[in-house]
Amino acid sequence: MSNKTLAICVVTVMTLMATVARGRGGRVLQSFDEFEYTAMACREHSASITEFGGVGDGQTLNTKAFQSAVEHLSQYSDNGGAQLYVPAGKWLTGSFSLTSHFTLFLHRDAVLLAAQDINEFPVLKALPSYGRGRDAAGGRFASLIFGTNLTDVVVTGNNGTIDGQGSFWWQSFHKGKLKYTRPYLIEFMFSDSIQISNLTLLDSPSWNIHPVYSSNIIVKGITIIAPVTSPNTDGINPDSCTNTRIEDCYIVSGDDCVAVKSGWDEYGIAFGMPPSQLGIRRLTCISPYSAAIALGSEMSGGIQDVRAEDITAFHTESGVRIKTAVGRGGFVKDIYVKGMNLHTMKWIFWMTGNYKAHADSHYDPHALPVISGINYRDVVAENVSMAGRLEGISGDPFTEICISNATISMAAKHKKAMWMCSDVQGITTGVEPQPCDLLTGQGSEKINGCDFPTDVLAIDTVELKSCSYRTN
Ligand SMILES: *[C@@H]1O[C@H](CO)[C@@H](O)[C@H](O)[C@H]1NC(C)=O
Ligand SMILES: *[C@@H]1O[C@H](CO)[C@@H](O)[C@H](O)[C@H]1NC(C)=O
Ligand SMILES: *[C@@H]1O[C@H](CO)[C@@H](O)[C@H](O)[C@H]1NC(C)=O
Ligand SMILES: *[C@@H]1O[C@H](CO)[C@@H](O)[C@H](O)[C@H]1NC(C)=O
Ligand SMILES: *[C@@H]1O[C@H](CO)[C@@H](O)[C@H](O)[C@H]1NC(C)=O
Repeated sequence: MSNKTLAICVVTVMTLMATVARGRGGRVLQSFDEFEYTAMACREHSASITEFGGVGDGQTLNTKAFQSAVEHLSQYSDNGGAQLYVPAGKWLTGSFSLTSHFTLFLHRDAVLLAAQDINEFPVLKALPSYGRGRDAAGGRFASLIFGTNLTDVVVTGNNGTIDGQGSFWWQSFHKGKLKYTRPYLIEFMFSDSIQISNLTLLDSPSWNIHPVYSSNIIVKGITIIAPVTSPNTDGINPDSCTNTRIEDCYIVSGDDCVAVKSGWDEYGIAFGMPPSQLGIRRLTCISPYSAAIALGSEMSGGIQDVRAEDITAFHTESGVRIKTAVGRGGFVKDIYVKGMNLHTMKWIFWMTGNYKAHADSHYDPHALPVISGINYRDVVAENVSMAGRLEGISGDPFTEICISNATISMAAKHKKAMWMCSDVQGITTGVEPQPCDLLTGQGSEKINGCDFPTDVLAIDTVELKSCSYRTN
């Protein structure tokens, strides 16, 4: 081919692409977009939602376009995998499911708008480890982005947005009008190798990100924003998952920023799937009515080996909180927290043994939770109302609590008692103000600092690859 023919070819191709790129109403789509991103796996095949009839005008419903795009691209699941690109625009959609070996990529100016229509959200059965929905006794609406029994899925973007338009759901919830539990924004069930990264999530109807019964999960670079008074808008809820890392997230919400869970009362005990090997790092939280990190209250399958590092919170009710009750059963053990920087808090350390909400009246009153091996170190806090409120269960004390190197400056109007402790046992060193007697047990003089594991989680050895996308 001569240089001249080549030049003509290039011009022809470019003209063709420019023509193709004119979507409905002559709006020019970003047809020459090209970008790189990092992911657990790259894909051989690509398509844009516009190829499936998607219209990003904020009005047209795109549920079918997303469903048919995923269905079409699932043919590549065993053949290099596929990535679906969502260009700049406002893409109104109901719930859709993803497939394996698949990437959903949102352009920085793409907004997925959740439809405010319950008919756009199929109803699923209650989760087996919960026995019932959280908002209502029946089933639950499928999340906006859903996946079950999948492997190797990436949901990412260069900070594209998923807007849950939650006010519609919050109002129905407050009026008691919902027959089923509200949808989440992103949920994966029974899945392996999941990455959710570099996105902004706004105004979720309820929880934002919910990996459940899954393993090998990375949640990274996520901004989550919801009004601090919105109901149950938890940020990230790893639930009965193993090998998870949650990093570099910024969360403002109406409930816990991160809540680690494992099922409810007799249903969670029977299901018996404890989350373990969970790392939470560089989390920033604002949640005036909840915790930066909560363990429970649904913890009946047990929670083990959680490592939280570099946690920052402003105007948040508590730091790392354990919530449980008689009837929960299960355990919370081997919890390690290192490095908390906290400003304007009610309680730094909070453990609640009488968190009463039960799934139903069939819970076992003899099912006592075992809370043991809870370690906090290197804490700086200011403007605090009460340093610690640690309430175990009578006849079932919370044991082996360790707090070291904690400097807590009380608010001008702090509570009279700086610590409130009952049915707990533990050791402390270098803690200011002076902890309650129950935490100055034998051995306190001997410790240097509380434990923090030095081994590496398997999920930390997963390297992200550099992937690219180019339209057409
Ligand atoms: C997220 O975006 C940042 C730049 O904004 C980039 O450095 C990082 O690799 C991205 N992370 C992922 C997991 O895509
Ligand atoms: C998904 O996996 C779970 C657990 O292995 C199994 O019980 C369930 O039947 C599977 N669901 C589907 C739709 O394959
Ligand atoms: C992503 O967008 C949100 C909302 O606009 C913004 O607050 C955040 O700083 C952005 N993150 C990055 C890494 O650009
Ligand atoms: C200190 O905390 C109180 C609430 O206890 C709050 O009203 C006040 O604004 C905080 N002060 C600063 C300097 O953040
Ligand atoms: C105590 O905690 C502070 C704040 O996190 C940290 O800078 C310091 O290194 C810690 N001291 C020790 C002895 O670990």
